[in-house]
Amino acid sequence: MVDTMTKADIIDGKAFAQDLRARVAEVAADFEAMAGRKAGLAVVLVGEDPASQVYVRNKGKQTVACGMESFEHKLPADTNEADLLALVERLNADPAVDGILVQLPLPSHMNEQKVIATIDPDKDVDGFHVVNVGRLATGLPGFVPCTPLGCVMLLKDKLGSLSGLDAVVIGRSNIVGKPMAQLLIAESCTVTVAHSRTKDLPAVVRRADIVVAAVGRPEMVKGDWLKPGATVIDVGINRVPAAEEGKTKLVGDVDFASAAEVAGAITPVPGGVGPMTIAVLLRNTVVAAHRNAGIALEEGAL
Ligand code: GUN
Repeated sequence: MVDTMTKADIIDGKAFAQDLRARVAEVAADFEAMAGRKAGLAVVLVGEDPASQVYVRNKGKQTVACGMESFEHKLPADTNEADLLALVERLNADPAVDGILVQLPLPSHMNEQKVIATIDPDKDVDGFHVVNVGRLATGLPGFVPCTPLGCVMLLKDKLGSLSGLDAVVIGRSNIVGKPMAQLLIAESCTVTVAHSRTKDLPAVVRRADIVVAAVGRPEMVKGDWLKPGATVIDVGINRVPAAEEGKTKLVGDVDFASAAEVAGAITPVPGGVGPMTIAVLLRNTVVAAHRNAGIALEEGAL
């Protein structure tokens, strides 16, 4: 189908992520030459959640494709929390492991905060540990959650400086909304964080030069909510029934068809923010490897 209505520029996250992975691969090769070992990422999956299994498999494949070592630990859903904590401690102490990612969500009998708190903050490539959350909030170097960092990379690539722009983040999760707001503050945006209790959300969104939608509600943000020319970053990945009987499709938190007629630029779903998350994870891992090995990484290399 030819879409003649789309006015917005499409932000190609898939292509950006591919370039980023190529840069990571170069830096990882230089690291190996200097350190005499590959950078290493350990990924821990507890249970059999099908979506998590796909993510973990893709992470492993892309880690190896970038010339890094992948250590996969798959534990049964009924694993004791104490056994998971013991594994995390072993990974903390393992010099071959630069980055540790425990795939979320964890089974309900486990305390996610306790598990995250056990990860060495200097191996916490997800940026979920309170030490890294505090570092981000205070402007210290640390690890930043992969999805919001990927969003900022796309925004800066499209807009250049973000200084002085009005940004609205819809969603206040620890994984996306809150770190996204911190990153935009650091870029000198004027930031509003909206959520399910926000009054007159369309009016709030209409003020924004930058809209980041991360609520997990299919096609919630409509084109007539947007300021003409706004840049729209859609973090949503929602599986919904497709027109064809029995089929499903992926849609974002933004109603793409109407938004693309008003926005200046927009990320599609799929192919926008999604591919950035793993690419940034690999970036964080090679950065962690340099820090852990005491090897300087050229500013702006990644
Ligand atoms: N589950 C969904 N997204 C993420 C992520 O970025 N990191 C981890 N550890 N789990 C997730």
